[in-house]
Amino acid sequence: MSLTTLNHPVITHKLSIMRDKTTPTTLFRQILREVTALLAYESTRHLPLKTVTIETPVCETPSNRLKGKKMVLVSILRAGNGMLDGYLDILPNARVGFVGMERNEETALPHSYYCKLPHHMEQRHVIVVDPMLATGGSAIDTITKIKEYNPLSITFSALIAAPEGVNALQSAHPDVDIVLAELDEKLNEKFYIVPGLGDAGDRIFGTVNKV
Ligand code: PRP
Ligand code: URA
Repeated sequence: MSLTTLNHPVITHKLSIMRDKTTPTTLFRQILREVTALLAYESTRHLPLKTVTIETPVCETPSNRLKGKKMVLVSILRAGNGMLDGYLDILPNARVGFVGMERNEETALPHSYYCKLPHHMEQRHVIVVDPMLATGGSAIDTITKIKEYNPLSITFSALIAAPEGVNALQSAHPDVDIVLAELDEKLNEKFYIVPGLGDAGDRIFGTVNKV
């Protein structure tokens, strides 16, 4: 459905620090959490409200609250976990699911190794979180899995995407809204996003750099 890019000077500034290869793990994680909180507001724009009656210190008034069951965040392991804290800062009641996906280093094809989702998915809105949308393979396979549970809606939220990944995801799942901080230029011959920020999982968790 829709493609939203935050394109905001403060976000661009923060992303520039994340992209810098000399930025240490601690700072990288901290900024990821800050930027993710803004993505969380943008990714939840479509959520329905219900009217309740409350009393302010001044008077009784109709007022709006989020409607329905608690929503679900689905983290694509590993790097999606780096976005969970930022999302949970904004949506502390959200349920959390996990899908394990790892790209083959040569082919970039995703291999699925884990899936654990909350109950009553059919009554919940889902936001899938992963900092990177490169070829789109990991997001596409994760969303295909989630669709087996018939959630009310699925939104995909990433920090950075390549146009190739956006096109692939839109073709495979045209009903899924995509919310990004920034859209980058392209993929390189190793299927990494250019200019990108390298391997998000490695940068969040301080493991070996495969780029
Ligand atoms: C990274 C990233 C995405 C995927 C994106 O994970 O976190 O899940 O690559 O690439 P794609 O769009 O081409 O599928 P990776 O497979 O490196 O696993 P990791 O998080 O365990 O490092
Ligand atoms: N996965 C990452 O972590 N970074 C990329 O640039 C591409 C896939």
